[in-house]
Amino acid sequence: MSALAAAHGAINLGQGFPDADGPDALLDTAVAAIRRGDNQYPPGRGVPELLQAVADHEERWWSQSYDPEGEILVTAGATEAIAATVLGLCEPGDEVLTFEPYYDSYAAAIELSGARRRVVTLRSPHWGFDPEELAAAVSPATRLLLLNSPHNPTGKVFALPELEYVARLCIEHDLIAVTDEVYEHLVFEGVHVPLSSLPGMRERTLKISSAGKTFSATGWKIGWVMGPARLVEAVRSVKQFLTYASGTPFQYAVAAALALEDDYFAAAAGQLQARRDRLCDGLSHLGWKLARPQATYFAVVDIRQFGEHDGRSFCRALVADPGVAAIPTEVFYDDKEAGRPLVRFAFCKRPEVIDEALRRLGRLELRRDG
Ligand SMILES: Cc1ncc(COP(=O)(O)O)c(C=O)c1O
Repeated sequence: MSALAAAHGAINLGQGFPDADGPDALLDTAVAAIRRGDNQYPPGRGVPELLQAVADHEERWWSQSYDPEGEILVTAGATEAIAATVLGLCEPGDEVLTFEPYYDSYAAAIELSGARRRVVTLRSPHWGFDPEELAAAVSPATRLLLLNSPHNPTGKVFALPELEYVARLCIEHDLIAVTDEVYEHLVFEGVHVPLSSLPGMRERTLKISSAGKTFSATGWKIGWVMGPARLVEAVRSVKQFLTYASGTPFQYAVAAALALEDDYFAAAAGQLQARRDRLCDGLSHLGWKLARPQATYFAVVDIRQFGEHDGRSFCRALVADPGVAAIPTEVFYDDKEAGRPLVRFAFCKRPEVIDEALRRLGRLELRRDG
């Protein structure tokens, strides 16, 4: 969609990347590290400064302790952490249970491992799940439960009772939980609770995050995974042959950014919340109905309100005229029918870009009786 957006000169509210740089502490530390000559392979687990910074960050924000020497591994973004985790822990015949819509790399990683994907659908408008359906989706072959909260594309923050239910299932069926928390700091409403912080979960959870979203540096691909040493070791054994290691100067920079004052994190979430409101208010003003996401970079619109049913053709038309790119969420679903009428807009963009997108969308002639 980004390529189509560029071809049509469209405003790109498709792919989730910010259009402004992150904090000076991040950028300056990277430049200094490059100039200092920190440009060769880092240690396979990550530079000690970043391992320590991740451990300190976990303690500070989520009151959880991890040993930087064996319980944390730096990866090439959360994407590598997810792939190496699934490949390291699953074999053909295993099942991985997750929710849909899901981040699309989950499906690819599960398929590469030879495992099977079982999905439970989150239903709008609150994106809740049916607890019985989730329990019924666990089988003797289930190895991992993969949970993304705060959630892309719905912007849902899983509530404590939902997490407690998931935790109970994991414990009862001896599952390993893998949590994708890349939007942990971009929460506007609700409270993010790491699944690993619930009783009995730390010892069975691999927790994944990344610097890309929090520090507006999605192109740096610095992520990490943490958990019990035996599980992290399984991930490392795969990561070693995917990338071995990456991004030495960026690892130093992310270490510096993770240590920024609380004010930075509050301001980043506040600025994004204002952009969410700008987009959602603007669309409401145009007569669009949509729920305000609790977190992340994204808002989802159900196009059935316009008498439309196919997000792919809606997005293809939108990018050409009036020139706004969005993503059909069908790609995030196994149940294509559930995903087909939903379209995702990213609001992690400068206010003038959001305003221009709204101006263009205002030119659309849409039915309002769908
Ligand atoms: C839910 C989710 N997980 C993982 C990623 C990938 O993170 P990274 O860029 O650090 O690989 C993304 C990026 O959009 C995401 O939305």
